[in-house]
Amino acid sequence: MTLMRILSLAFLALVYATITQAYCLKDTYIGSSFFDNWRWETFDDPTHGRVNYVDKWAAQAANLSYASDNKFIMRVDTYQIVSGNARGRDSVRIISNAAYGDSVTVLDLAHMPVGCGTWPAFWSLSRAGPWPNGGEIDIIEGVHKNTQNLASLHTTPGCSMREPRGQNGQVISSNCDTNVNYNQGCGTSFSKGNSYGAGFNSVGGGWFVLERSGAEGINIWFWSRSDPSVPLSVSQGFKTLSPNDSWGPPEARFPTDSCNHATFFDPHRMIFDTTFCGDWAGATFSSANCGPGSCNDFVDKNPDSFREAYWEINSLRVYE
Ligand SMILES: *[C@@H]1O[C@H](CO)[C@@H](O)[C@H](O)[C@H]1NC(C)=O
Ligand SMILES: *[C@@H]1O[C@H](CO)[C@@H](O)[C@H](O)[C@H]1NC(C)=O
Repeated sequence: MTLMRILSLAFLALVYATITQAYCLKDTYIGSSFFDNWRWETFDDPTHGRVNYVDKWAAQAANLSYASDNKFIMRVDTYQIVSGNARGRDSVRIISNAAYGDSVTVLDLAHMPVGCGTWPAFWSLSRAGPWPNGGEIDIIEGVHKNTQNLASLHTTPGCSMREPRGQNGQVISSNCDTNVNYNQGCGTSFSKGNSYGAGFNSVGGGWFVLERSGAEGINIWFWSRSDPSVPLSVSQGFKTLSPNDSWGPPEARFPTDSCNHATFFDPHRMIFDTTFCGDWAGATFSSANCGPGSCNDFVDKNPDSFREAYWEINSLRVYE
């Protein structure tokens, strides 16, 4: 190894291998605290999904939302045939009352929705808006039988990503402007194994960590449950996160040099949802080998196929 290479690796390690400052635990969401501190949204899916988002009371009555001492579960209906003139299959979309600016969010997730027709997401959205003002950050997102997670930003015009940028994942698209490429956003596909879908679920899930910093931009780390390199502060829910911990490079990194953080992002609320078909999953149903028919038809007629379409959250911790 040349001296230059050693120096540049050391530089990368210093700059990218961890969070950039210390953070202290601000809010912890476990079990029923989701019922107390999040809202159930019931509007028509803005991404045109074949979904009927139900309110909190309906969700609890049908056990589509359920809390125990140490779990919070959000599932979709797995019993009913949906009639053609209905809005779609019953599901849940929740949003946090609190909004966060510079912060670290640690999600300990045991299971995520997966299967043909599904399009789940864990993401954050500007409290002030209107979209895309203040930005959107997609932390977990995918469709159908995907195996790699996609993390993306969606912004007003003027935010893009340059290469290289010290991330583990693969660049899918570089312009974050929602007007470009039918709102594809700027996305990074994760490289580590088990970051999405059946693989993620098969080992009991794992941890997704979002860091937002005016100075450093947006970093997203991922560790599978079976990954021995997960930092103890993340896996054990420590009260402080220290920049002295070695985290390794993030799967997705969105630095500030061609996207000033404060210009494009303001305090965000967190969202979990599971939709079906719509703009992304509807357009990719057949190319994902999900069947000869239409996505909507599949969703309407196959309640049994959605048994794996649930979120099981161990905890969500936010540090500031
Ligand atoms: C609701 O779902 C939870 C989690 O899967 C399960 O443990 C519980 O038995 C369900 N309750 C009912 C009434 O079906
Ligand atoms: C990081 O390590 C240094 C040297 O051991 C120590 O002085 C400092 O307090 C640590 N910082 C944090 C935030 O733990």
